Amino acid sequence: MIPQSFIQDLLNRLDIVDVVDRYVPLKKAGANYVACCPFHSEKSPSFSVSPTKQFYHCFGCGAHGSAIGFVMEHQGLGFVEAVEDLARSAGMAVPKEESGHAEQQKAAGNFDALLEATQLATRYYREELKRSETAIEYLKKRGLSGEIAARFGIGYAPGGWQNLAAAVPDYQDKSLVQAGLVIEGEEGKRYDRFRDRIMFPILGQRGAVIGFGGRVLGAGEPKYLNSPETPLFEKGRELYGLFQARQAIRAAGKVIVVEGYMDVVALAQHGVEYAVATLGTATTPVHVQKLLRQSDNVVFCFDGDKAGRKAAWRALENALPHVADGKLLSFLFLPDGEDPDSYVRTVGKEGFEKQVEQALPLSEFMLRELAARSDIQTEEGRSGFLLQAKPLFVQIHAQGLSLMLRKRLAEMARISQAELEVLYQIKPAAKGPAPKARQERKSLTSSAKLLLRCIITQPALAQHIDRGLLTDGDAETVALSAVLEFIRCHPQTGNAAQIIQHFDGSPHDAALQSAGGEILGWEAEYDIRADFDCAVAALREQHGKRTTRALDQKPLSEMSDEEKQQYLAAVSYKKIDMLRLKAGDSDNGAKS
Ligand code: UTP
Ligand code: MN
Repeated sequence: MIPQSFIQDLLNRLDIVDVVDRYVPLKKAGANYVACCPFHSEKSPSFSVSPTKQFYHCFGCGAHGSAIGFVMEHQGLGFVEAVEDLARSAGMAVPKEESGHAEQQKAAGNFDALLEATQLATRYYREELKRSETAIEYLKKRGLSGEIAARFGIGYAPGGWQNLAAAVPDYQDKSLVQAGLVIEGEEGKRYDRFRDRIMFPILGQRGAVIGFGGRVLGAGEPKYLNSPETPLFEKGRELYGLFQARQAIRAAGKVIVVEGYMDVVALAQHGVEYAVATLGTATTPVHVQKLLRQSDNVVFCFDGDKAGRKAAWRALENALPHVADGKLLSFLFLPDGEDPDSYVRTVGKEGFEKQVEQALPLSEFMLRELAARSDIQTEEGRSGFLLQAKPLFVQIHAQGLSLMLRKRLAEMARISQAELEVLYQIKPAAKGPAPKARQERKSLTSSAKLLLRCIITQPALAQHIDRGLLTDGDAETVALSAVLEFIRCHPQTGNAAQIIQHFDGSPHDAALQSAGGEILGWEAEYDIRADFDCAVAALREQHGKRTTRALDQKPLSEMSDEEKQQYLAAVSYKKIDMLRLKAGDSDNGAKS
């Protein structure tokens, strides 16, 4: 574990402009530096680096972070590796923390032990592959080159029950069971999970082996045996080949999602290096989100048979809520009896990529499939069609796409768009004053948002916010609370990058990302103190109003002394509000 204080020192010492410029040439533009974003493909630069705030932010794809985050993402390094790399460039030595939270240490230690086990196993399986003629023969027969087998770290688990005993220091260590490599049977008898199988290591986000898929060489059940769910490995979150494909995905500007290990490997061997596979599960919402973070163009590739169509439909259902305007999700169906492995061997890279170009956009696939399920030649059929489309349609939050679909659905059902909107109870954008509660909530959100921006710009302001005022549960308020707590624990925090780095990958990431994007535009000499005071005052006033409303419901006799005092103070607030109301002020905060 690297001490937090070192991370802060390192970020203070580095200049993110130098760090980024080593990999991506930057151009000065006003107070910031810009370039075309290295994390998605684009023609005009929306990638911005702030020298005063020491972080980067892409207005196109939302990528953001500190110098450490940049090196991790761009070079595909783990956190520790990135810190070591940057420390070296800054001439600093990375200290190791001796003691921390005992529990945290234990958890981290355990994690390390599991990773150590999977790493030793990977090495062992790879050595065994070199020695097994049958396994080599099998892979050759399937057309795999030695080079590609090495790139994916493919190995072989020999037959026999306790082979791993030769690969690890202690076969009785519990980490082997926890990592899913060894099974403990009755009476504590242990044996290897993977026996006589071709082994495909599955890499996590940071490039370490977190699990395996093992294929039988001939016939046998199951065809593929996967690691069980372990602290390292959750099937529904991981994608096979993603770590290896990251650079190629960026270069191609797209990612292809296939179903099998062999599909990913065969595609890569034929030069289609931007493919990843789900691990014998349906495409989950987590998968979709992960994929959309890697690329704006995601192509799901399925077999053309009935099972393939069904799997594609499930992928569509899980993808709908994550569709955004400017992102393209599409579906490619291969000819019957083919999978990407067999297909790319027949038609080659170009033939395969031509098919990818012609993949069906998600909306097209959805409409065709729905139309095929009803008879849209009849009135009844068309009304059934609309009924089936509605639950899917309402999940699409992308405004542009939603509008297009409305038009198409109406056309196909032979009604007008206005009629469809009535039928689906889609209200035209609300005009006039919003209901009061909503209005208040909205202004509450914006004070929290504004404060979040102020605090990451000038962390020292944190001491002027009373955290008792933050009671509402929206994302910005929660993020603001967390940031305030972080600064309380780390009073040395001097700039935005340190905060953003700390919360990287946390649930507050999105709120900080949007705040970060916002403050990039603020000039260095911009006086945030006025904004800050205003937002704090607004918070205090809203808090007061909430308190009054709660106390209004309570008989005076049941109030504590403190509550009585609060109420008195609040009521005088209210009087002022009433006076303002009478004077025609639009801020009508008074209501009981
Ligand atoms: P397929 O049965 O389509 O196999 O399973 P495949 O990928 O074409 O494999 P080869 O070409 O016969 O070697 C697709 C994927 O489903 C998962 C695996 O991830 C596999 O790659 N699967 C399949 C399992 O997890 N277990 C199984 O028993 C079968
Ligand atoms: Mn196959």
